[in-house]
Amino acid sequence: MPTLYDNLTGWVTLFVVQPKCQGKGYGSALFEAVLQEFKSKNTSIIGLDAVVEQKTTYERRGFVESPLGKLRCMSWNTSTNIDHGTSHDPDTNLRLIDIKDVPYHLLAESDLDHTGFKRNRLWGEKFFSRSDVFGLALLGGEGATKTADIRAWTVVREVPQGYRLGPVYATDQESARRIVLASMEHAMGRIENTSTNSVISCPRVEDPRAHTITAEIWDGNPHAVELFEKLGWSSVGVDYHRMWFKGKATPQQDKGGLAHSGMYAIFDAAIG
Ligand SMILES: CC(C)(COP(=O)(O)OP(=O)(O)OC[C@H]1O[C@@H](n2cnc3c(N)ncnc32)[C@H](O)[C@@H]1OP(=O)(O)O)[C@@H](O)C(=O)NCCC(=O)NCCS
Repeated sequence: MPTLYDNLTGWVTLFVVQPKCQGKGYGSALFEAVLQEFKSKNTSIIGLDAVVEQKTTYERRGFVESPLGKLRCMSWNTSTNIDHGTSHDPDTNLRLIDIKDVPYHLLAESDLDHTGFKRNRLWGEKFFSRSDVFGLALLGGEGATKTADIRAWTVVREVPQGYRLGPVYATDQESARRIVLASMEHAMGRIENTSTNSVISCPRVEDPRAHTITAEIWDGNPHAVELFEKLGWSSVGVDYHRMWFKGKATPQQDKGGLAHSGMYAIFDAAIG
């Protein structure tokens, strides 16, 4: 299925053929049709996340792995103690707020700055009013009037096994650490039902020990995996290869782009 962002960046998503129909050329035909569709819309950049088994197939179709790296699926079990670690130089001016208090157009702008995906319609009232979604932002000052005021932000969604975290964008490692930690604490508080904050409801899994928070960590940021590991997260053994047609990535996800230093976990590129 093709997704076309407002800035003519394309994404190939949900590429699945029913098991009993596989190996008969349907996948090939489907993929060719998707590429033609993008071509007819003058799409300038096309990306996808490949499972390891399909990487060479996509390479045969002209896709090249991002030089920045892979997406690593990691998780954290809420029954483990949170390792708060040490903050060498805590900035006491930082304020943690509910993401709903950040103007949504700033989130859309920040997302675009980090990914090159223009998805203004996603980051709005409809998304954040969902009962399965909560988010946090770390501000450098009193309020958020421009993207530079936001030191970090993240979104967490409720899933049957617990929660799914992402994106995580941050200006620096300490802000990233604080926003991820705060999200873990918030999710845990909801599970244990001890938090008085009601931005989300309890997930569906009965046994609190069975809850996990999962995220797709952006290995293109050299500090991302290490940061999550230090907070007690571990790899689940699944990686995705981010690939770009003819090797042409969005500038934000190319060498020197903001994704290199500011993106720690992704939000499904397929959505938006
Ligand atoms: C990937 C998928 C959509 C391909 O559909 P399909 O109808 O079986 O594929 P086709 O018969 O048209 O073959 C398409 C190409 O995929 C390759 N391929 C298919 N299954 C493969 C496998 N299990 N491992 C490696 N290559 C495979 C074929 O060699 C072929 O390559 P070629 O045309 O360059 O020679 C299908 O296998 C599927 O739904 N898989 C599960 C979901 C999935 O992994 N999706 C991809 C996410 S990135």
